[in-house]
Amino acid sequence: MPINLNGRSLLTLRDYSPDEIEYLINLSINLKAKKRSGISGTALQGKNIVLLFEKTSTRTRCAFEVAVFDEGGNVTFLTNSQMGVKESIEDTAKVLGRYYDGIEFRGYQQETVENLALHAGVPVWNGLTDSYHPTQILADLLTMKEHIYKPFRKMKLSFVGDARNNMGNSLMIGAAKMGISFTAVAPPSLFPSEEIVNYARGIAAESGAVIEVTDEIAPGVKGSDAIYTDVWASLGEEDKLAERIALLQPYQVNGDLMKKTGNPDALFMHCLPSFHDSNTSIGATVKEKYGLDAMEVSDEVFRSRQSIVFDQAENRMHTIKAVILATCGKL
Ligand code: CP
Ligand code: NVA
Repeated sequence: MPINLNGRSLLTLRDYSPDEIEYLINLSINLKAKKRSGISGTALQGKNIVLLFEKTSTRTRCAFEVAVFDEGGNVTFLTNSQMGVKESIEDTAKVLGRYYDGIEFRGYQQETVENLALHAGVPVWNGLTDSYHPTQILADLLTMKEHIYKPFRKMKLSFVGDARNNMGNSLMIGAAKMGISFTAVAPPSLFPSEEIVNYARGIAAESGAVIEVTDEIAPGVKGSDAIYTDVWASLGEEDKLAERIALLQPYQVNGDLMKKTGNPDALFMHCLPSFHDSNTSIGATVKEKYGLDAMEVSDEVFRSRQSIVFDQAENRMHTIKAVILATCGKL
């Protein structure tokens, strides 16, 4: 069956089959090559896209905007809508669906993006909620394909840190679907939920991936092709920073942890933004208050030859473009 994603929303990778994910990755590869050759597209000519943000962003907003502009479409960036305050999500979705051909949402509750999709009548894309970050995973899969010279089914990815956040959840699902063995390495209080682990293991039974959860760093990261980490306190969890610093300091990705993989070529991955130094206002406060130069990753690892974080960031744009074109463009 040929793959046709026209009209589909992307709310979580749970809703996409491995073949559909592979299709989006391959489309991204083509779109990346097209951009590199300087060819601009027309797949979104006459199309209008709205970007609805409750939380801050650099990559996601800019990747969506550039992706749409590259293909001849228009965008509206909306941060101060009536939604949820003076107007229900349902009514907002119905209105936006009359104006726009697609809606991107970044915010707190997964329920909000699900609700938008239920009522908009046009594709809705999850640009991050507290639970999931599916467009980030597409970029990460593309980046792994570009840098690790073996099939997904032979790769091992370890996520170290807050393994129950949107990134931990989404990576586990994406890896299980594509057959990548995945280990969540975290203190027990930050383990992913049993529901997600059981779901991922259910898929892994078909894809051949091994899904593990452990609080032991050395066996957890051993044999990894890539180590992935994320901030210790996600957007909206700023009040949890002190608690997380205490819990996660032993899990910092540094030279010592990278050595424990036993793989001198193990890659370092991060969705960004990252606290790898104190050159941010939060980083400076953390340094002053807790004496830490970095949080989830040392500056040395972040800047090392194994670090592919800026390739991941670039690939956000190519993969988001693929999602928009596949679901509402003229392909
Ligand atoms: N990785 C990511 O989603 O970055 P932003 O928060 O800057 O969009
Ligand atoms: N877990 C992070 C991801 C940022 C892209 C957050 O939600 O803030």
